[in-house]
Amino acid sequence: MLSRLDSNLWIHEEPLRFFGLEIGRIMTVVRLSSGGLFVQSPARLTPELKETLDDLGGVRFVVPASKLHGHLHMEQYREAYPDAELLAAPGLASRRTDLTFDALLGSVPDPRWSADIDQIAIMGHRWLTEIAFFHRPSRTLIVGDVGYHVTPEEPLSLRLLGRVAGVYDRVGPPIDFRLTVANEATLRRSIRNVLGWNFDRVIPGHGSVLESGGREAVLDGFDWLL
Ligand SMILES: [Fe+2]
Repeated sequence: MLSRLDSNLWIHEEPLRFFGLEIGRIMTVVRLSSGGLFVQSPARLTPELKETLDDLGGVRFVVPASKLHGHLHMEQYREAYPDAELLAAPGLASRRTDLTFDALLGSVPDPRWSADIDQIAIMGHRWLTEIAFFHRPSRTLIVGDVGYHVTPEEPLSLRLLGRVAGVYDRVGPPIDFRLTVANEATLRRSIRNVLGWNFDRVIPGHGSVLESGGREAVLDGFDWLL
C-alpha cells in the first residue's frame, strides 16, 4: 500500500481528477522518533491502508498542506483514530466545518514532531497559505501546490498541463498561483526560508517524487521570484 522512500518515510499515490485531468495526489507518512505516524495529505483510508498504517505504529497526526491541498478524507482518520489530532492550515477550519481541528499550523513545529520535522508557513499569496514540511533525517521537502513536479513519465494529459502551467521537469507552483501572488517580497522570504533547509528529495503535491537534486529544482522552479 505504501512505497518506502527512507527508513521512516513512505508515500501513497492516489488518483485525483482536476477539471477533467488526472493529476493525482501524494500522501506522505513519517514515523516519528517519539512513536506513531505523522500523515500529510491523507489518502482514502481503505481497510488495506489502515492495516498498513497500524503495522507502522498507528496514526497520531493528520495534516494538510493548505486549505486547498490535502484535507480530503480527514474525516475517515478522525473516525478510525479518535485519539489522533487533525491539524488545520490557515483557512481550512472555515472550509471544513464538518471537522473539529485540534490546532492551527504555522511556522513553529509542534515539540511532539519537531525532533524529526520542521515546518514553514509559505506566506504572500492572495488566498493560499501553505505549510511546507522538512523531514530532517531523510533530507526531504514535503509540499502541496507550491511544488508540482511533472516528469516525462507522467500520463500525456498531465505532461501537457505541466507545460502549460510551467511546472514541467522542475519543482514549483503552477501559473495560476504565480499570477495570484499578493506580496512577492513576502513569498520570496518564505521560499528562501525553505531553501535554508538542507533537503535533497522533494515530495510534491502533484506529479512524481524527485529523489535528489531537490534544492536545485526548487531554485529553478522559483527563478521568476528569486
Ligand atoms: Fe493540489
